[in-house]
Formats: sequence, structure tokens, C-alpha cells
Amino acid sequence: MQPRQLLAALASGEAVSGAQLADRAGITRAAIWKQVETLRARGVPVEARGAAGYRLPWPVQLLDAARIRAALPRGCAARLGALEVHWELDSTSSELQRRLGEAADLSMVLAETQTAGRGRRGRTWLSPPGLNLYLSCLKRFDQGFAALSGLSLAVGTMVLRAIDSLGIQGAGLKWPNDVLTAEGKLAGVLVELSGEYQGPCAAVVGIGLNLRLTDALRAQAGQPACDLATLAGELPDRNLVAARLVAALADGLRQFERQGFAPFAEDYARHDLLAGRALKLSGAQGNFEAIGAGIDARGALQVRLANGELRSVDSADVTVRRA
Ligand code: BTN
Repeated sequence: MQPRQLLAALASGEAVSGAQLADRAGITRAAIWKQVETLRARGVPVEARGAAGYRLPWPVQLLDAARIRAALPRGCAARLGALEVHWELDSTSSELQRRLGEAADLSMVLAETQTAGRGRRGRTWLSPPGLNLYLSCLKRFDQGFAALSGLSLAVGTMVLRAIDSLGIQGAGLKWPNDVLTAEGKLAGVLVELSGEYQGPCAAVVGIGLNLRLTDALRAQAGQPACDLATLAGELPDRNLVAARLVAALADGLRQFERQGFAPFAEDYARHDLLAGRALKLSGAQGNFEAIGAGIDARGALQVRLANGELRSVDSADVTVRRA
């Protein structure tokens, strides 16, 4: 029995005895125990309930490409390239990077778990199986990097559109593209570009969306984090959430290709968590404090300095100052 089969056997959230699991898989209870330990080491909180056996603290729906496809809005599936669900990849974004030459436009790759999930600025994105969503999408553009300013901010609004379509409110955007709630980070966006400055180019858009965080994951995250289960009260089906994300990206990235950042600017401004807030910035322009003043047409952060000057910031670490 592989970790995926064990997770599937425990997916209902009911306890299953070691003996039953061993019988089903035709292996020893010791071998089952070893697989339980493997899942635990990957961050899945498998509980041991004495004679009752092993259980998960909540039911889990494993990702399934056919179910995601079935939950897409009419016409969306036909616009996609590949739609793949893998059990394990090093990173869904690395997988698309490796296949950049041949993968069709709007190919979507999801994985239950990543062994080398990547965040921005070289950080690791912890990716245990069965809990969250790890998805990357390939979008090709003809106009070159020059036309892609604001893309990563637009992707943040696409994630919010997906969440909003599930009837879940309460998330906003921290420039450039973190999706946050009052409790912490709900989703991260990593956009990687390759190709030519003024010719054909490609963006691999990677999204990690927290659906269900464990205490251990929160502790390891290195910053306050939040999950959709907390925000929604009850977690929608994981395949439905994945479908909404796929649809929002497919629609949004095509819209961005035709019209650039402009149609996303109003959405961004409505969800801008930095506007009017006292900020600390550190980056190429040094360390300084200022008040958030929205974003410009290219997606640069606008801040107002104490002397009234309005400054545009293209790249910086930004934190909100405590009152
Ligand atoms: C961030 O640091 O906020 C960005 C995190 C992006 C994580 C996602 S998970 C799917 C895709 N694959 C990766 O390795 N990274 C992105």
C-alpha cells in the first residue's frame, strides 16, 4: 500500500483498524504502520485510536482530474490545455517549466503533494498531501514581458474571484500578490516568466491555496497563516475549489492577454489591504516608512511619504506598521 492508497482508505474520516488496512492491501500491520509514519512525516495528522485503528481528524476528498473537469463551467474545459492531477511532484511549477517547449497554452498541473514546493524569494512552500491546493498554469503571450506588468497582481484578483465564486468572503490582497485574511496568509502566488522581452514569452503561474492547515504547518509557516476551512466555516469539496481556481485562471489570463491589467485594477483596489495603512518598506530604495496609496496602472505600489511626496515602488518587502 502506497501513501496515496492509505490516504484514500482513511479519506472518510472514520477510524479503520490496522488489521483491516493490512487485509485490504495484503501486507502486514507493521507495513501499514510504516506507511502511516510516512504520511505523518509528510504532514498528514493521522491519529491512532487504540483498537479502533487510524483516522484523519476530518474527511478528505482526494483530487481527481475527472471531477475537477466535471465541475468546470460550460465551455471552460475546451479552452484548457492539459488538466493533470499528480500524486507527487517536486513542484507543479517546475513540472511545467520542464515541459515549456511542448505543453499547450493554459495547461494546468495540480499535485496532492510537492517535495520541493517553491515560494517567492527562494522560500520553501510546505506542501503536505490531502490538505491544500498546489496548482500551476502555463500561459503563453505573444507581446513579450514588456506587456506583462501587473500580471502577478491580476493573478491575485483571479484567486479572489475563485474564492468569491464559492460564496466565501473576507480575503484581501497585500501587494504584490499575497492573498490574506485578518488571521494571516491564505494563498501565495509565484509568477515565473521566460522568453523574450518583445516577442513570444510564457508565464508559469503557481498558486498555493491553504484549504486546511494543521497546527504543525502553522508553526512551520514562519508567518501567520489562515485556511479556507476557517474562513468558510465548512470546507467546500476540494475538487470544486480546484475547478473554481482553474476556471478563474483560464478566464482571467485570457482577459489579461487581451486587455492587460486595466480590467483588474478596480478589483485590486477594492481588496487592497495596504491602502491607507502605515507601512514599513525595505528594498532597492532603502528602508523607509510611508502610507499605502494604492497601485498605479502598471501594478507598482504607490506610497505617500511624510513630506507628501508620492513614490512608486516596483519591488520591496512591505509590512504594515503596528498601531
Ligand atoms: C509565495 O511565496 O507566496 C508563493 C507560493 C507559491 C506556491 C505555489 S504551490 C504551486 C506552485 N508550485 C510551487 O513550487 N510553487 C507554487
